[in-house]
Amino acid sequence: MQKNFETSLRDLINSLQLAKIYPREHPQCRNALDKAYESLQHLLQGKEEIVVGIVGDELAFEKEIFLDLSRAVKPLIQFLKERGVERIVFRRGVRREELLEFIVFLITPKEDIGNNAQHYLLLKGVENIFVSKIRLSSSSSEEVRKSVRYLNLYHGSLDAISKSMNAVLNSQALDYIDLKYAFTNITEKLFGDYKDFLKLTTLKKHDVSTFVHMLDVAILAMYLSYRMNFRKEEIYSIGIAALFHDIGKIYISRKVIDKPDKLTDEEFAMMKSHTVLGAEILLKYTDSLGILSPTVAFEHHLRYDVKGYPKLSFPHMPHQASLIVSVCDVYDALNQRRSYKNSYSPDMIYNLMLKEKGGLFDPEILERFFKVIGVWPIGAVVALSDQRVAVVEEVNEDDIFSPRVKILSPDSKEERIDLRERKPEIKVEHIVEGFDYKKNFS
Ligand SMILES: [Fe+2]
Ligand SMILES: [Fe+2]
Repeated sequence: MQKNFETSLRDLINSLQLAKIYPREHPQCRNALDKAYESLQHLLQGKEEIVVGIVGDELAFEKEIFLDLSRAVKPLIQFLKERGVERIVFRRGVRREELLEFIVFLITPKEDIGNNAQHYLLLKGVENIFVSKIRLSSSSSEEVRKSVRYLNLYHGSLDAISKSMNAVLNSQALDYIDLKYAFTNITEKLFGDYKDFLKLTTLKKHDVSTFVHMLDVAILAMYLSYRMNFRKEEIYSIGIAALFHDIGKIYISRKVIDKPDKLTDEEFAMMKSHTVLGAEILLKYTDSLGILSPTVAFEHHLRYDVKGYPKLSFPHMPHQASLIVSVCDVYDALNQRRSYKNSYSPDMIYNLMLKEKGGLFDPEILERFFKVIGVWPIGAVVALSDQRVAVVEEVNEDDIFSPRVKILSPDSKEERIDLRERKPEIKVEHIVEGFDYKKNFS
């Protein structure tokens, strides 16, 4: 398939280059177009549509095939980008004339196209080629405030995730490019300016949608693996695996999942089966999601001491990715409960999880996790022992109880304190719940 795509792409570029030099009726142009059309038809065989995307400076096609083809592709990418196109869908039934109009569109000055490329194509009678920006980028204009941008990105990712989850639920193909784009965006933010993004994960919101837990665990796992110096591709795979870790739960009755009381033995057995069910589902998607996803779905409750489930006849140490996801999963689950009645404060969560060091959790991973997330997470509003209220701005790796904070109240003109240096006279006493500092202070 990759070969076919490459051929098709070369034919398209060839046709594009000729169209720049000759009028469209020129025999050279006609021949090149015929060839490009033929290879596109070949590519579309047995498919409803094919989707090509631009992610960064690369062309993405279908599943995980990311092409860094010859330099010849670069001008094409440039053409597309200049015209605001990051994603092209060729539908089955696309006509030769439509492909021609698409090629002409690519060499038309962008001023003549206007802001709406799709509209321009429609006016030219093109109905089976769709061009668009990848959904998320529309929310990232410069003037939008950073935190709002991150929030949009977060919600955009939730959209991409809910689409993917629904596809899996209905045994359909995944829009892998959409998912990859959402995750590339998140990963990039986590590498650079992670603070605003991490806040969305570690501070609990009240609208806990179905996919929030999945996305939060994925973000935490990606951030943690980034800080553990995994390679970019590995971080991405861990994120995807984390995202799907509980997918098996879709087969389990909501009554069991949401039951507030203790589960009966039968219900508990049903609950436990989400690991095996999840792995079975994900095994059908290994070409797009990779092998790590079913592995993590299967192992994320195995525990570091291998005393968890599913029960294995030959116990083995879970994959490191499963151990990472397990820490992030439990942290997020405990954190989520803060929005409900049984609230756990961050220091309680830390103490609870610490008890499982070497049991449920790999000691090194657990330690690393709290080093990067801190006991009091970034963005948390905390009461200090000197009666002031502050917001956590930075975690101190060497002293996870004493972050760097900014004083919020009484208003102190942005006074910042490194609590590590003010020990023992000032320390964090407790978290201040429901304190919307953004509303009050920014
Ligand atoms: Fe689970
Ligand atoms: Fe989970």
